Amino acid sequence: MSSRSIEVLRLGQRFVRDDRTLTHLCLVSRALGAESIYLEDAEKKVTGTLEEVNKTWGGDFKAILGVPWRKVIRGAKEEGRIVVHLTMYGVPIQDVAEKLRGLDKILLVVGGPKVPGKVYHEADYNVSVTSQPHSEIAALAIALHEIQSGEELKRTFRKSRLRILPSARGKRVVEN
Ligand SMILES: C[S@@+](CC[C@H](N)C(=O)[O-])C[C@H]1O[C@@H](n2cnc3c(N)ncnc32)[C@H](O)[C@@H]1O
Repeated sequence: MSSRSIEVLRLGQRFVRDDRTLTHLCLVSRALGAESIYLEDAEKKVTGTLEEVNKTWGGDFKAILGVPWRKVIRGAKEEGRIVVHLTMYGVPIQDVAEKLRGLDKILLVVGGPKVPGKVYHEADYNVSVTSQPHSEIAALAIALHEIQSGEELKRTFRKSRLRILPSARGKRVVEN
């Protein structure tokens, strides 16, 4: 398993808070190999949901609430993390994927409905997943997949209460 560390930052302002989108960003980050997500503004219930998911399905993915984006980016840079901002205006991910795969520590930044202009300057890379508008959840999933070359699909989660036995039909779940 790779020793690469990926954290996620979701930029967000109070007046457009959407807890369902935030929960999905958490679930996608967790399932696809990130170790934590910073949410500038989210209800406590988002972390409650995640704790339940961790208890049932394993791992120790964390959501960290309420830290302003500038502070998250500053902290990331101080610890040598490379800041990769996902935006439809950036360079195509297929052109930089090889470089991104070589990085040990990454902060992947996704926006909401409005992204402050400064983020584009603070980022080490501004990266697009197609040059068409779509969704932060989709962009995040594809970026995580590209950066980890699909290795994240084979990941197992430690200390789960339940485990799925993949099956062509029906649902097979066992207790650990
Ligand atoms: C609904 S979009 C709104 C973007 C907004 N118009 C802006 O200022 O960039 C929310 C977020 O989804 C992500 N996103 C949407 N389309 C993307 C694309 N084609 N490539 C990469 N990220 C994208 C970006 O992180 C963006 O900030």
